Amino acid sequence: MRRSANFVQNLQTGNIIERYGETMGISIAIDGPAGAGKSTIAKKAAERISFIYVDTGAMYRAIGLYFLRKDCRDEEQIAEECKGLSVTIAYQDGIQQVFLNGENVSGLIRTEEAGKMASFVAKIGAVREQLLELQRDLARKENVIMDGRDIGTHVLPDADVKIYLTASSKERAKRRYEELKAKGETCDLDEIEKDIIARDEQDMNREIAPLRKAEDAVLVDTSSMSIEEVVETVVSLYKKR
Ligand code: DC
Repeated sequence: MRRSANFVQNLQTGNIIERYGETMGISIAIDGPAGAGKSTIAKKAAERISFIYVDTGAMYRAIGLYFLRKDCRDEEQIAEECKGLSVTIAYQDGIQQVFLNGENVSGLIRTEEAGKMASFVAKIGAVREQLLELQRDLARKENVIMDGRDIGTHVLPDADVKIYLTASSKERAKRRYEELKAKGETCDLDEIEKDIIARDEQDMNREIAPLRKAEDAVLVDTSSMSIEEVVETVVSLYKKR
């Protein structure tokens, strides 16, 4: 366990009136582009080492879903309205559930539209601020494997292990295509790759907390690795930390 230096100090007396985040769990940050396999790997690695898996993309997707339902893409309106939204997470049988204003939306946020809208709302500072505290709070309380785009660079800059997981856009599109086909959905491989490249562009080039590899993150290119090999890599980086 590490100690956090955060505390609230009475400015008149100088006394520390409250310590928050007094103990922090161990944290493993996994960042990378869409479809790199972050959630599959993080979930399996978390099981192996009995950590809590925190999928931060699901939080952005929940906010994306809210504005998708309203058909709203006005950045100012989103910035204002997101402050009134409640996004919370809970665990049922070890699986993360995301609630939007009390509604469990976990089954509704996995569509391509919700993913694209998540990337759109994720550019907006007010949205990111709202989710930052929720994410940090979880890492204060639990041992976490947290995946996203800005975990190692911004959310948990002191994470014990940082990994940047990537794969070629062709390989990522192929995996997504297989996933959709297995679900019985009709899809086009080239379209999927185009969407993936567009989402990378948006996530890497936004002004606030863009996707990039933290300087101290280990780069893992999964293009020609099996899921088990990647999980093993993550677990061994954690053991060697
Ligand atoms: O990982 P995902 O596909 O579920 O994420 C959906 C979008 O959410 C992603 O394209 C960008 C945004 N996101 C983000 O900006 N920061 C995070 N930490 C996680 C996701």
